[in-house]
Amino acid sequence: MKKQYFHRAFWKKLKTIGFSILIHTTDILESIGDALEQAADTLKEKDHRFKARFDQPQKLADRSGKSFSVSGDRFLSLDRARMNTLVIAPSGSGKTQVCVFPSIYHLAMQGSSMVVNDNSGELSRFIPFLKRKGYQILLIDFTFSGARDSVFFNPLARIKTKADAAKCAGILVRSTMGGEGKDAKGSFFTTKSEELLTVFIYFLITCCHPMYHNLANLLLLLEELQANPQKVEHLLSRAPEDLWRTYMSLLGSSENTRTSIVASAQAAISWIGNDPQLQYLTHTDTLNFDALRNGKTAVFVRLPIKDAEYYTVVAGLFFNNLFGHFFQVIPEKSQQDIHLILEEFSTFAAALPDFSNTLANSRKYRLPIMAVIQSGQQLVQAYGQFDAKTIQSNFNTKVYFSGLTEEAEHLERILGKYSYKADPDDKHFSTRQLMTSDEIRNMPKDTVLVLSSSFNPIKMKTKPAYRQPLIMQAWNTTDEDGECPEQGYTPIDIPLLDLSGKDIRGTSEEQ
Ligand SMILES: Nc1ncnc2c1ncn2[C@@H]1O[C@H](COP(=O)(O)OP(=O)(O)OP(=O)(O)O)[C@@H](O)[C@H]1O
Ligand SMILES: [Mg+2]
Repeated sequence: MKKQYFHRAFWKKLKTIGFSILIHTTDILESIGDALEQAADTLKEKDHRFKARFDQPQKLADRSGKSFSVSGDRFLSLDRARMNTLVIAPSGSGKTQVCVFPSIYHLAMQGSSMVVNDNSGELSRFIPFLKRKGYQILLIDFTFSGARDSVFFNPLARIKTKADAAKCAGILVRSTMGGEGKDAKGSFFTTKSEELLTVFIYFLITCCHPMYHNLANLLLLLEELQANPQKVEHLLSRAPEDLWRTYMSLLGSSENTRTSIVASAQAAISWIGNDPQLQYLTHTDTLNFDALRNGKTAVFVRLPIKDAEYYTVVAGLFFNNLFGHFFQVIPEKSQQDIHLILEEFSTFAAALPDFSNTLANSRKYRLPIMAVIQSGQQLVQAYGQFDAKTIQSNFNTKVYFSGLTEEAEHLERILGKYSYKADPDDKHFSTRQLMTSDEIRNMPKDTVLVLSSSFNPIKMKTKPAYRQPLIMQAWNTTDEDGECPEQGYTPIDIPLLDLSGKDIRGTSEEQ
């Protein structure tokens, strides 16, 4: 019995010792493994050389690319263009000649739909060529150089909800307030005048006949509110309860405050005030955005750059309408991409408050965007430091021309450094920037620096449109019928609300 017990105890002890040896051995082996791994890592890290280098241009863009031009004769693929492109260069560097003209021509050769804002009229010179290529042209001409050809664009036409009305009011107020809206006093009147405009816009949409849904009638309500508040109050009493309450709460403040709120709201649409041409062009809407998805269509928005404030609002309203429209439904495979070329983007950037969001969504909704600016600072002015950074990073491809100042410092850091031996017999490596800020600033005029995610920086030689006879020929094409667009427009009487409230739903006209 004693012997048996001894036996069992012996084997138990042996088992414990065995286990303990096994565990220790595993631990030791693991430690050795770790040490070896660390040693390997150290060996790997020993190569401390800097490796910055350029990539070949053809890796990113070549003649077969289906989208935007980055050098005049090299084009991005559709996939890359869907992640947006930013062109940055000082005035006169060749942005239009290298990126914009060749993009329009190249897109036209493939039958791609496009939307172009044209500040100076130089881009709409492609219209006769595009017509010959079978394009449907939708020209929105706010310069009235050929208003007979223009389609009508009514910024209120696509408003359905109160939130839509508030967005439109926000653009109207903020793009005209400039710096004023930023201080505390400004922000009170900004908010209140936005609310007042929202009430009026939503009142027009929900309580009045569609022929009154326009800026001319919005202006009428505001002017009448200043001159004859009882009349407007009487009219608004027909609005739904919640709208009526908002209206009364807005105007229930002191006389001075009320006057200031109305004055701010009036200022927000003063640009359309006494301009019968503008009222005419915006009184109804014949712009069919869907044509862009379903066929070869080019929209040209001709805007008067010299009147900066008015330009900002109109461009802002137009592009917000466009994004609002296309961001509703993801396009089907059979539907085509719509390329947006935003020239002089900084002039209306402030009127696109959700732009970082827009850029983030443009890929999903297949709206490749190419924005053209003169410096990164322009984005900071429009959006502030933080948002400007987000916006810049949402442009997957950036094209930099020579002559940039602030960007040059920043680019020097981004490009990185590389190690080299000045003499093959040198024992040690020297280090230098891939390009110094001076070298970036003073690049040859015919060279651009292109950054695009997942590629090393790329230097490309440019080929401006004026050195490409086919593009210049297209640009100089004249209308087949030789018809000159008629100057000006034929004035018509825009239907205005009867402020006594009679027939605001327009039922008698319909009978
Ligand atoms: N036919 C031509 N022959 C030679 N150079 C030309 C010709 N047409 C334009 N240029 C040159 O192209 C440059 C202008 O390019 P572009 O209009 O593309 O500049 P940009 O960067 O778009 O300027 P901005 O910011 O003012 O719009 C100028 O330096 C001009 O001298
Ligand atoms: Mg230009």
